[in-house]
Amino acid sequence: MNIPFSPPYIDADIENEVLDSLRSGWITTGPKVRDLEILCAQLSGVEKAVAVNSWTSGAALVLKWLGIGKGDEVIIPAYTYSATALTVLHAGATPVMVDVLDDFTIDPQKLKAAITTATKAVMAVDIAGWPCDYDAIKQIINAEDVRSKFNPGNEIQRKFGRIALIADAAHSIGATYNGKPASIASDITIFSLHAVKNVTTAEGGMICLYLPPPFSNEEVYKWMKLNSLNGQTKDAFSKSQGGGWRYDIVSAGLKINMPDICAAIGLAQLKKYPGLLLPERERVFNHYAAFFGSKNWAIMPPARDEQRISSYHLYPLRIKNITEDQRDAIIQKMADAGVAVNVHFIPMPMLTLFKELGYRIEDYPNAYKNYAHEISLPIYPQLTGEKCTYIEEQLEKAYKEVL
Ligand SMILES: Cc1ncc(COP(=O)(O)O)c(C=O)c1O
Repeated sequence: MNIPFSPPYIDADIENEVLDSLRSGWITTGPKVRDLEILCAQLSGVEKAVAVNSWTSGAALVLKWLGIGKGDEVIIPAYTYSATALTVLHAGATPVMVDVLDDFTIDPQKLKAAITTATKAVMAVDIAGWPCDYDAIKQIINAEDVRSKFNPGNEIQRKFGRIALIADAAHSIGATYNGKPASIASDITIFSLHAVKNVTTAEGGMICLYLPPPFSNEEVYKWMKLNSLNGQTKDAFSKSQGGGWRYDIVSAGLKINMPDICAAIGLAQLKKYPGLLLPERERVFNHYAAFFGSKNWAIMPPARDEQRISSYHLYPLRIKNITEDQRDAIIQKMADAGVAVNVHFIPMPMLTLFKELGYRIEDYPNAYKNYAHEISLPIYPQLTGEKCTYIEEQLEKAYKEVL
């Protein structure tokens, strides 16, 4: 068997939506992006969603809007994909890394201890699609002693009057928190629509705005649209209409708009995400859970508790009492059996850039522990029960051989 790790889901509806875009004579930002934004906002429970060309560029735009820069600190978990930290570095600010809990999400108590007068935002990461403990995080950033330490550097930060909460929801489109979309647990939630994500536009991102009063989500949406397209007062679609040629440049915006041809893929996928694609991921997750639940050597990833339901983006299995080398040997045996697995994630303090910046993995023992015995199994709608069984059997075989 040959089982890839995360192929995109492409069916006739998706092909037709893309063909529709190709045949319409309009392939960059236009009606498909607008429809995708509207549908995504509806499913996410927010008033407004802004489509961009990646999670990373979306985070850059959000930090630009917040006016975060030199001298500011943004708290993030040490256990995430590097884009979370890189966007903070690109803004000129300092990523302050804190350790994670056993469920991979940021440790609220460590977060609290990391807050200083320079803290402007927290970027919490829903690893594998499992939402962070947002109630605990919000309680911390709203506490009077923390608010009184907050030192706003501009009008937007003054309006917040507290640390802003941004969700790195690259993995968690469709996850729920307290019975509602997890995207309303933070001020701003950013999805990744990259090729391996639950919903994809090949490359893409979506910024969901759930800003509290006195912010107007409509106004912030307009600012973000403008500043995702060079600060230009008219997008290319409006400019292309007869007589609509004149435009102005009113700010030094980024150029990170999503093309319609990409939005078409996401639009067709998103239409069938709640009813088909997400339940299919859950099916695969439950298949694994039924198998690994009976193995005393396996630690299963969280999927559901009284507050949260995962989006089943990854299946980060952990294996008890194995070393990093034994984990790597199991991965090799899986590859030899035709199964592509992965590791999510190498904690950032173990990567060259961050080591050179002075971060030390010794300061993040839980991040290291979670990483050292983790193996992410394939999880996607196209995985049949037969393939799931094959993956489970191969993993148990590899485990027994290596141990
Ligand atoms: C946790 C996390 N954050 C951010 C990103 C960046 O997403 P994008 O590739 O859309 O910029 C990823 C991508 O894999 C991710 O896993």
